[in-house]
Amino acid sequence: MSVTIKSEHEIELMREAGRILAIVHEEMGKIIRPGISTLDINRKGEEVIRSFGCIPSFLNYNGYPASVCVSVNDEVVHGIPRKDRILQEGDIVSLDAGVIYKGYHSDAARTHAVGQIDEEDEKLIEVTRQSFFEGVKMAKAGNHLFDISKAIQDYAESFGFSVVREMVGHGIGSKLHEEPQIPNFKPIGRGMKLRPGMTLAIEPMINKGKKEIWILDDDWTCVTRDSQYSAHYENTVLITEGEPEILSLADKDNPFKQQ
Ligand code: MF3
Ligand code: CO
Repeated sequence: MSVTIKSEHEIELMREAGRILAIVHEEMGKIIRPGISTLDINRKGEEVIRSFGCIPSFLNYNGYPASVCVSVNDEVVHGIPRKDRILQEGDIVSLDAGVIYKGYHSDAARTHAVGQIDEEDEKLIEVTRQSFFEGVKMAKAGNHLFDISKAIQDYAESFGFSVVREMVGHGIGSKLHEEPQIPNFKPIGRGMKLRPGMTLAIEPMINKGKKEIWILDDDWTCVTRDSQYSAHYENTVLITEGEPEILSLADKDNPFKQQ
């Protein structure tokens, strides 16, 4: 399978999948506080997804046992929600979720502070979020795929943070993972040319310390080797003739839509 160009009808369905996912994240964000479990967050996410008649795309994906990936502190991605994993003041928590609306996917992640956190950890969250926007600025027809990768890497590394290598963003559409892979660091070459109608899940995973990771014995949870904190931020993005359209972001959070 190669990269797919979506029709106007497919784009409409993906817009709706993205709009719903933005709400799912907003609702999950509201319950984040010390004392709740990572399973509470999963339950809220799944409830909101199903309230729109959508399917949580992660549930049973390659055997993943939940609807939301909930990754705390040194967990980079793919943390499995548990009722005995209780959030504490000073933690950071990354939430990653996907929905299927009428056969089309959206995929997005946010990292939240739990109560008061260290200033440096605030910085990690903010730089990770901004690195996504630096990448998206390059997500224009005529540019090349790795222009996005380079922008993310240059921005994150300019703050002394590091970019995870093993996991990458991806095309998205009628499947959660489509071609192309989108590294958050610049490989050799420029990558393919971007064309209107491509839909991409761009998802920087940024570590406070070193870039190396491990996968735990549960075969899912990805953690930093040096146990320092890691943040994740992701949206589903449409390449257009003009500015990129961020499908999984509410207008109020979208710098491209601010006057
Ligand atoms: N959001 C992840 C990604 O972009 C998907 C999580 S994998 C799952 O690749 F198994 F948890 F679904
Ligand atoms: Co993704």
